[in-house]
Amino acid sequence: MTQRLTIRRPDDWHLHLRDGAMLRAVLPETARHFGRAIIMPNLVPPVVTAADARAYRDRILQALPEAADFTPLMTLYLTEETDPADVAAAHASGLIHAVKLYPAGATTNSASGVRDFDKVRAVLEKMAEIGLTLCVHGEVTDPEIDIFDREAVFIDRVLDPIRRQTPELRVVLEHVTTRDGIAYIGETEKNLAGTITTHHLVINRNHILVGGIRPHYYCLPVAKRESHRLALRAAATSGDPRYFLGTDSAPHLDPLKESACGCAGCFTATNTMSVLAEVFEQDGALDRLEAFTSLHGARYYGLPASDATITLTRGDPVPYPARIDTADGPVTVFDPGFPLHWQVGA
Ligand code: NCD
Ligand code: ZN
Repeated sequence: MTQRLTIRRPDDWHLHLRDGAMLRAVLPETARHFGRAIIMPNLVPPVVTAADARAYRDRILQALPEAADFTPLMTLYLTEETDPADVAAAHASGLIHAVKLYPAGATTNSASGVRDFDKVRAVLEKMAEIGLTLCVHGEVTDPEIDIFDREAVFIDRVLDPIRRQTPELRVVLEHVTTRDGIAYIGETEKNLAGTITTHHLVINRNHILVGGIRPHYYCLPVAKRESHRLALRAAATSGDPRYFLGTDSAPHLDPLKESACGCAGCFTATNTMSVLAEVFEQDGALDRLEAFTSLHGARYYGLPASDATITLTRGDPVPYPARIDTADGPVTVFDPGFPLHWQVGA
């Protein structure tokens, strides 16, 4: 059995770093293993303009530990007021690598998201023209649609029409949670890829609800039934270049999750690579871990893969902190529910 595995340095194609004390606490957790990450713009207020993104990038770089080698890849939060020229200039200068579409009200800090998709047509057309990627939170917000069906309905009602109207638009369907999402990506020839999180490869909805409610497993899109998780596992470990890692590591202070109305988000930055190595080993696919974490995403975004490497070593169960501390309080680290044997950098 393999005891050491050396892979190119991984990238995270969907990451929440927040700001202030939270940023300072969680950034080192990602920068320790990852070379780059697509940084989500759902701050309060959101990162809407090129000027906002430049200022946020500066705050991230300020918060980086001295020796870290990490590049934040910035995004803009798409609103109905977004100016196509501002987006194009931000892309041309190399500042941004994607624009993020949140349907209004879909998730944490998405109140400024899009209600009327016709109002963002001009931006989407400009993005198609210049080859800028649209990252999509793929859930409808219609109160009549059951929360477990919101991804599948989004694909039919919103994503497929957008892609038919603008076939040259490059799209990432983020944090895919259903076999419907995998099937939709699987039947597409170009300009569509999907990110898959660490936690959705591990948990199904029973983990959230059986034997008591587990707030640290609650995220959006919410984990679905087991057959969907198995479809995600098959896609992630398949070697298909349309799938790559986007952890959606989304820290919230513990009191805000352990509450009568707890926030959505799983914090996986600390142990993601150990969890993924365990998952890929369980599926006999360790030889495809590098493609999922370090090659496919860069290729889709038109960036070179990292020249650096990390080495994972298999041994006794790896300790990791149950929570990390921020100046504002603790944040619980994702517990996959099984021991982790792969340690990074040992
Ligand atoms: C994210 C957050 O907390 O910002 N939460 C989550 O459950 N994933 C928002 C998001 O990406 O949906
Ligand atoms: Zn997210």
